[in-house]
Amino acid sequence: MTAMAKRHKKINFISFEGLDGSGKTTQINLLAKYCECEKINFLVIREPGSSLIGEKIRIILKDNGNNFMDAKAELFLFMAARAQLMREKIIPALQKEILIVCDRFIDSSVAYQGIARNLGENFVKQMNDFATDNIKPDLTFFLDVTPEIIFKRKNKNLDRFETEGLDFYQKVYSGYKKIFCEEENKNRAVFIDGNLKCDEIHEMILNKLFA
Ligand code: TYD
Repeated sequence: MTAMAKRHKKINFISFEGLDGSGKTTQINLLAKYCECEKINFLVIREPGSSLIGEKIRIILKDNGNNFMDAKAELFLFMAARAQLMREKIIPALQKEILIVCDRFIDSSVAYQGIARNLGENFVKQMNDFATDNIKPDLTFFLDVTPEIIFKRKNKNLDRFETEGLDFYQKVYSGYKKIFCEEENKNRAVFIDGNLKCDEIHEMILNKLFA
């Protein structure tokens, strides 16, 4: 990578997707460090969260004590957090051409709620469009690690989603693969083998983002 990294003009908004524990957050942290060093104006946000209301919703969604939560209620909470994030962070950052780096976004809802929770892929897509005013990431990195590998890596402090069984994660995983192969999504999807070394993945991401 050359010293003077330049952003590709058409990439203003990127998201990271993958199963819980696929290494998204590690890669986002590395990317943030790189942007800092290169003096690239960027904003890291996460879903659900990154707004006052969104962080409160995040606590409700992840709380193991809420294991009786209805799947529809869960979907609406994610959408509420997303609508707030659009208004407070994403739209203003897009207007200023700040590089937005989002830890999960619309595809998580389609894979987890639409497909794995069976609420319907198309219905969740419509909800996404409503919450985001049809704004989509320019690029989405999918860190591809299978549920079987993720399950071997799991630690002890698990949240409400992480306590779901292997069958749930298999549905999320195949859901993701389906979504990113669809005509409407395949141009923004970047599949990355999440089993590669951390710095190899980081390099691949930089190559996609900077000239
Ligand atoms: P988080 O701790 O951010 O997970 P990770 O670090 O693995 O990204 O928790 C977010 C959880 O919420 C995660 O299990 C995925 C789930 N989720 C959905 O089910 N639908 C969504 O729309 C979003 C954004 C996340």
